[in-house]
Amino acid sequence: MEKILATGGTGYIGSHTVIELIKKGYEVEILDNLYNSKIEVLDKIENLTGVRPKFHQIDMLDENGVDKVFEDGNFSAVIHFAGLKAVGESVEKPLEYYETNIGGTLNILESMKKYGVKKIIFSSSATVYGEPESDVCVETLPTGQKLTNPYGKTKYMIEEILKDYAVADKDFNVTILRYFNPVGNDESGLIGEDPNGIPNNLMPIIMKVYKKEIPELSVFGDDYNTRDGSCIRDYIHVVDLAKGHLLALENIKPGVSIYNLGTGSGTTVFEMIDAFEKASGEKLPYKVVGRRAGDLPALTANPEKAERELGWKAEKTVEDAMRDTINFLRNN
Ligand code: WQD
Repeated sequence: MEKILATGGTGYIGSHTVIELIKKGYEVEILDNLYNSKIEVLDKIENLTGVRPKFHQIDMLDENGVDKVFEDGNFSAVIHFAGLKAVGESVEKPLEYYETNIGGTLNILESMKKYGVKKIIFSSSATVYGEPESDVCVETLPTGQKLTNPYGKTKYMIEEILKDYAVADKDFNVTILRYFNPVGNDESGLIGEDPNGIPNNLMPIIMKVYKKEIPELSVFGDDYNTRDGSCIRDYIHVVDLAKGHLLALENIKPGVSIYNLGTGSGTTVFEMIDAFEKASGEKLPYKVVGRRAGDLPALTANPEKAERELGWKAEKTVEDAMRDTINFLRNN
């Protein structure tokens, strides 16, 4: 049975992907420092799959710790989720973001090189497109231009590191997955997006408003040139995203492959609020405030390449994601 190392595997996207991997018969080990996740996720993975992945509570920056995991691991591939991911925080703490995301990734790559692990799937982000000339992104769009925050720059730089390494080692295979806006959770409601601290993203904030931990949602601007004035994004169900990783793993090709993982359709902030209210049966308190710096009016994926080459297509809708989110909220 192929053994996979999932760095950041107790996190939101990582844990959903670990579940799909186990269901497909892979043996999975997790390396995570629990900075933005909880150890209880392991119990929930075991509850959902009957398997408790071997867990290494290790920081990517702990070179010796990382090396020991690989020395014993005999992994056939790494799925690299681990990293700091708060856009706003990255502007305030750039050194921490570069050290953790870039330095941590280099430690992982050094150990992969030392122990002959030749396949990596990297959790990247649509943010690497910066301010693209088209608001529908294809993988051939230029990246790394007009990036507005260190978080996005680390994702771009790691993509470049992986591309350069694949040139130096022809046997090293890289798959880069550019996520759009992940939402939702496993239909069991046992696991879901549950970040430590104050979230940045729309859905975890809506979840905190629903739980009355935050009095109301601030809508960052209703004066954009969109159908209702609020920004449009491509919200993709995290289970579809997880399945995309599985297909990427099963279709790894020599060199570097890059795929957008998005639905291809856009939803406005007001439409997200409406969808959440329909799923919860309750009004969601919000107020319109000024625009957030760096926000683009619209950004959605052209997911045709993943469909063509991986046979992957998002199946779940925003309504499915809201239903599953309410289920998670009511279970926790
Ligand atoms: C979505 C929409 C906001 C919060 C970022 C990263 C990207 C990826 C996903 C990691 C925007 C609006 C939000 C709020 C609001 N992250 N909003 N009030 O900015 O599209 O993308 O997260 O991979 O890399 O760039 O996501 O969820 O922050 O915002 O009105 O309190 O919701 O203006 O239009 P974003 P988001």
